[in-house]
Amino acid sequence: MSQPDYTITQLISAKSIAARIEELAQEIQEQFKGTDKLIVVGLLRGSFVFIADLVRELNLPVEVDFLEASSYGDGTESSKEVRILKDLRGEISGRDVLVVEDIVDTGFTLSHVVNLLSTRNPKNIKTIALLDKPSRREVEIKATWTGFEIPDEFVVGYGIDYAQRNRNLPFIGCVEFNTKS
Ligand code: IMP
Ligand code: MG
Repeated sequence: MSQPDYTITQLISAKSIAARIEELAQEIQEQFKGTDKLIVVGLLRGSFVFIADLVRELNLPVEVDFLEASSYGDGTESSKEVRILKDLRGEISGRDVLVVEDIVDTGFTLSHVVNLLSTRNPKNIKTIALLDKPSRREVEIKATWTGFEIPDEFVVGYGIDYAQRNRNLPFIGCVEFNTKS
């Protein structure tokens, strides 16, 4: 296999992510205190590490479900057409829902998913994104909770990939593409 033509520089350390998740979990717990059973919906695949760490900080009865929506394919450009590749297993009618996303970039994915789930009569839908790139927004949407706002950089790690690689890095790093001379 050939060497990747990019390098990765750390942007957010594993320790900073863990500290931020503790803070976010406190706020989420406050919001959903007394909720019968919260359904935490992870958007595959990028949110799998985040949701795993987040739910373990939540001292609430939670149910975990997953939904997969297509966005980037294997490139670095978002597509505006969002398709549902894998739907939820459970019903959300009358329930509190927390949608967990890795990054809000153009906003197409999160807004599409929230619109879709809204048609299923949930009691309430809140959203959380680990990362937000506000400068890239094309659809007006803001997650209820955001871990970190970041500049317009392509990032990997902590569940987030570039062409299906680097999801296993424990930190968030920026991808710098090497231009051959
Ligand atoms: P949006 O629909 O443009 O908001 O795109 C959201 C999705 O694109 C996220 O869930 C990510 O899977 C992916 N994405 C956005 N920015 C990045 C990035 O910097 N690295 C890797 N994936 C990204
Ligand atoms: Mg995603």
